[in-house]
Amino acid sequence: MKIDVLTLFPEILEAVLDASIIGRARRAGLLELKGHNLREWATDRHRTVDDRPFGGGAGMLLKPEPLCDAIDALAGPQTCRIYLTPDGQPLRPALAEDLSRLPHLLLVSGHYEGIDQRVRDTRIDREISIGDYVLTNGTLAAAVLVDVVARFLPGVLGDENSLTAESFTGSLLDFPHYTRPAVFRGLQVPEVLLSGDHEAIARWRQEMREEKTRRLRPDLTTHTHESDC
Ligand code: ADE
Repeated sequence: MKIDVLTLFPEILEAVLDASIIGRARRAGLLELKGHNLREWATDRHRTVDDRPFGGGAGMLLKPEPLCDAIDALAGPQTCRIYLTPDGQPLRPALAEDLSRLPHLLLVSGHYEGIDQRVRDTRIDREISIGDYVLTNGTLAAAVLVDVVARFLPGVLGDENSLTAESFTGSLLDFPHYTRPAVFRGLQVPEVLLSGDHEAIARWRQEMREEKTRRLRPDLTTHTHESDC
């Protein structure tokens, strides 16, 4: 899969996504990820990419010309063009999994107060939010989206089970995990995990997932999703 990210800070993307599991996936050729600096499409001497909003108000907007030129240069007929914004569709695992099946994503990260609405209207296929809060830097949102999508690419997580038993699979949170020692500072590991009875362990884990989800995130079981890219 190929992911291009259009940003004012490609170095942030590299800092976050060059290490650990995603860095390894990139080196193994499972994910082709590239950051592009929007300023490369600025046409004036000062490489200007922002301007003041019509109608007044605080903050600056990314202006339409460099942004449209950049999107048109980086997108092809197979590309899903995604704008990261707090107004977007909430990012959930099912959406990330859908996106992981597409051949090419172009992520547009906003800065300042956002981007000119005409770019959103004519050059963006879908808008995604990583959560109900506002970041100062949309590149962080793009990095989060890349990380979440990449986890669903075949071969990225060494152990395929990591995907099937984790939080949110089947709209449930994860069960509690324990490792050695069996008694740590007087705290016991639940007996069933030491029993060697795999069916009893599976039952206990499922019960824990259901109980924890009811207690902490009763909203999780009601989510649906739709995909249009
Ligand atoms: N840009 C700033 N805040 C954001 C958010 N919560 N999700 C996606 N993009 C953003």
